[in-house]
Amino acid sequence: MENLNNYIDSQFTEAVDELKEFLKIPSISADSKYEKEVRRGAEWLENQLKKLKVKTKIYETEGHPIVYGEYIVSDDAPTVLFYGHYDVQPPDPMELWESDPFEPVVKNTDIHPRGAVFARGSSDDKGQLYMHVRAVRALIEKELLNCNIKFIYEGEEEVGSENLDQFCASHKELLTADVIMISDTSIISNEVPSITTGLRGLSYVEVEVTGPGKDLHSGVYGGAVANPVNVLADMISRMHDEKGRITIPGFYDDVEIVSEEERRAMNQAPFDLEAYKKDLEIAEIWGEEGYTTLERTSIRPTLDVNGIWGGYIGEGAKTVLPAKAFAKISMRLVPHQNPDKITQLFQEHFEKIAPPTVKVEVRPHHGGRPAVTPVDSDAYQAASDAMEAVYGKKPLPMRSGGSIPIVAMFKEILGLDSILMGFGLDSDSIHSPNEHFGLENYQTGIKTIAQFLIKFGESHS
Ligand code: BES
Ligand code: MN
Ligand code: MN
Repeated sequence: MENLNNYIDSQFTEAVDELKEFLKIPSISADSKYEKEVRRGAEWLENQLKKLKVKTKIYETEGHPIVYGEYIVSDDAPTVLFYGHYDVQPPDPMELWESDPFEPVVKNTDIHPRGAVFARGSSDDKGQLYMHVRAVRALIEKELLNCNIKFIYEGEEEVGSENLDQFCASHKELLTADVIMISDTSIISNEVPSITTGLRGLSYVEVEVTGPGKDLHSGVYGGAVANPVNVLADMISRMHDEKGRITIPGFYDDVEIVSEEERRAMNQAPFDLEAYKKDLEIAEIWGEEGYTTLERTSIRPTLDVNGIWGGYIGEGAKTVLPAKAFAKISMRLVPHQNPDKITQLFQEHFEKIAPPTVKVEVRPHHGGRPAVTPVDSDAYQAASDAMEAVYGKKPLPMRSGGSIPIVAMFKEILGLDSILMGFGLDSDSIHSPNEHFGLENYQTGIKTIAQFLIKFGESHS
């Protein structure tokens, strides 16, 4: 291991330079203006894989392309399928970035005294998927690769992986493997390594509340006509009770009851409430009564407004009673909630609590099922041993609050479990201004992925 890690260290400047090139490509999947840039991201990645003599192909979809690669060492060796996404979230609000989101710069921070690269996609997920490429490269060069490798990198994760399900269903043979390795999650801290063992699902809806046929003078009509913005605010506020529970009938029916033992284990993970509040600049936390913050963000479902608008939001004051109000609402789901069922329950409830003064419409967006991954497999053992070897500490299994809907689909369509071994930190500001990825996280990630491959290969020989 010493020898390999020294080699990875000696190549690290190049690994950082390549990542910076990758980060310069604004592969924003949500914005059709950037379609060509998303494709450029795919082509750049394919080109890097080609340099390793990986057999590659770009598959077209109805949306953004999928980059596939394969490096077969032997028919007897086990196969690891790496998944990641080369698309990124839109960078806005632009004015809150301290540097250009697509001009990567390395800066030191309190958490990253050895530097972090600041750019959109640095942690989610370009920096993390590129660790796979660099780890495989180091093993090939040192003639230590004892697993077959497949890569599947998509450009639509941030918009719901709409075309990947279909691709998997029609390319089952191509995607045969023993396990899927995904680096698109966080560790607890650089001192406390962890492996993610669960992800929440997602149900996402947009609502529209319509009052009068046009915007009205709020003096002439105010007080006599229901204001859709007021009505929407009231409807939303009624979606939680005083105990922080969601009031949609049936919402909790299928929620997994986690054993007291697992809850105790989960709460052993280090968590500093004061630091958490300070970091988020909040005076007090909030949440469902009877659960800790760690539980609220992993084993409990949520309902949150992601955006709300209506009426006049320009400069100064305009006295208007708006005709319409809108909101985008996400619900994070836990095992064994079904996103379609939850979306339907939401819709029925929203229509039911709407007063007769307005019309409402609920439009479902993409969703995703929650996932839990096994901790008793050879692959988990290899991942855990790899982390222990590199960090000097056994990683804690941890359920995460985020969603990667394809994980449940991989299980359903391909019958494959995933190992969620990411190396980001929750403080990396993913989806926010000033996203960054610690260089130490990047370097340690490359080493750990390489160790995982060696150990997984050995466990099958
Ligand atoms: N990498 C994230 C998910 C994530 C982040 C998992 C942190 C665990 C810890 C992923 O790119 C993402 O942002 N997923 C979306 C869902 C998707 C359907 C848009 C999410 O969680 O909001
Ligand atoms: Mn991601
Ligand atoms: Mn993301």
